[in-house]
Amino acid sequence: MSTELRFPPGFRWGTATSAYQVEGATRADGRGESVWDRFCRVPGAIENGDTGDDACQHYHRADEDVALMASLGLNAYRLSLAWPRIFPAGDGRLEPRGLAHYDRLVDRLLAHGITPLVTLYHWDLPQPLQDRGGWRDRATAHRFADYAAACFDAFGDRVRDWVTINEPWIVGVLGHQLGLHAPGERDVAGSVRAMHHLLLGHGLAAGALRATGRPDARAGVAYSLFPHTPAADTDADRAAAHGSDGYVNRWFLDPVHGRGYPADVREHWENAVGPLDFVADGDERTIAAGSDFIGVNYYTRRIVSAGRGDGPFPWKVEPGRDDVPRTDLNWEIVPDELTGLLLRLHRDHPGVPLLVTENGAVLDDDRRVAFLHGHLAAVHRALAAGAPVEGYYHWSFLDNFEWAMGYRPRFGLVHVDRTTQRRTVKDSGRWYAAAARSGAIPPWPA
Ligand code: FCB
Repeated sequence: MSTELRFPPGFRWGTATSAYQVEGATRADGRGESVWDRFCRVPGAIENGDTGDDACQHYHRADEDVALMASLGLNAYRLSLAWPRIFPAGDGRLEPRGLAHYDRLVDRLLAHGITPLVTLYHWDLPQPLQDRGGWRDRATAHRFADYAAACFDAFGDRVRDWVTINEPWIVGVLGHQLGLHAPGERDVAGSVRAMHHLLLGHGLAAGALRATGRPDARAGVAYSLFPHTPAADTDADRAAAHGSDGYVNRWFLDPVHGRGYPADVREHWENAVGPLDFVADGDERTIAAGSDFIGVNYYTRRIVSAGRGDGPFPWKVEPGRDDVPRTDLNWEIVPDELTGLLLRLHRDHPGVPLLVTENGAVLDDDRRVAFLHGHLAAVHRALAAGAPVEGYYHWSFLDNFEWAMGYRPRFGLVHVDRTTQRRTVKDSGRWYAAAARSGAIPPWPA
C-alpha cells in the first residue's frame, strides 16, 4: 500500500513574489523611479498596456496578505525589496520610509512564524542608475553592494537568508539582448557585460554579508535553471544541448560556486562579441566570494538540436514534444526534470544547500493542484536520493503583474480580482496549505 510522502522536519513551505509585481504604490513614501516604471510606458512593451502602478496593492495590504499567508499555515515567504524605495536615486540618500515599510513587513512575517527569504534584486533597478549605464556599467555592481550592505544593516538582525540577484540570465537575455524586459536593450555585447556585472554585484554583496560577521547569514543567487534535452540521441545534438546548458546554466553556476567561467561558453561568447575585456583580474575570485545556497527557479526544460537559431550560437531551441502536457503558456510540464536538476546540482556542487526559489504554472486550478503534487513529489524523490533541498517556494502567492505579459497569466495560489483587489484562495492554495500543515503530500500518482 502506498503511503504519504513526508518531508523533513523544518522543510520550508513557502510562496514567492517580487516587489514590482505585487506592491503597486509606485509613488508612495518617496519611492524613486525604476526601469520597470519607465519600460511600462513604452508603447507596445507590455500586453494590454498594463503597468505595475497598482499591481496587487500589496504595499498597502501587506498586513492582510501576511495574515492570509499565515492562515494557510505557510512557514516561509520569498519577497523582494524595491531598491528605489530604499535608495530613490540608486545611491546617495537613504529613504527611511522605504526601510520602515520593509521593517514592519519583516516583523509581521516573523510574528506569524513565517521565515522571510529576501531578494535584493528582482529587476527593479533605479532608473537614475540605468541613465548612467545600468548593469552594462561596472559601477552598478558597486552601487548594488552598497544597497545590499544598507539592507543587511537594517534587517540582518532578523533576516538570515538573502537572494542577491534573481535570474541573471533572464536579465541579460530578455532585458539586454532581446529588449522584451526592462531596460529594453537590444545589444548582445552589452548583455554579456550586464550578466558579468550582475554576478560581480552578487559577489560583492556576498562579501559585504560576510563582513557583517553574522555567522548564520547566508547569500545565494536564484538562477533560472533549464534542464536540457538533446532533440535526438546523436552526438551533434548532445553537444548542442551541452553548449546551451553552458549558456543558460553553467555560465552562472560555475563562477559563483568557485569554478570560474566555463571555457566552452567563454569561447562561444568571444566568437560572438569579441574579447571579454570587462572581466577584470580578480573578478572571478570576487564572484566566488562565498555562496551559501543555490536558489532554483524551475519552470520547464529546453530541447535543443545542432544548427543555428538561438542568437549567435550553434544550436537551436526546439518546440516541446506533442506527448508532453503543457501549461497555458505552452510550457512543457516535466516534473521529473526537477528531480534530475536537483540531483545534478547536488553532484556538481556537493554540500551546497538547495532551495526551490520558484516553481509554478499558469493553468486552470485543478491542473495546478496536479502540477503542485507532481513537482513536490519530484522534490521528494530528490531528497530521498540525498539532495539537500531545504524548501519549496511556489510562484506565486498572488496572481500578479507578469512583466511583459501584464496581468493575463495567473500564477497565484490566491486569486486577485483586478477590479476590487479581493483575494480568494484557490483550491490549489488550500491543497498546498494542507501539505504545509501536515508536512506531507499524498502518494503520487494519487
Ligand atoms: C520568473 C521570474 C518571476 C516570474 C516567473 C513566472 O522568471 O523570476 O518574477 O515572473 O518567472
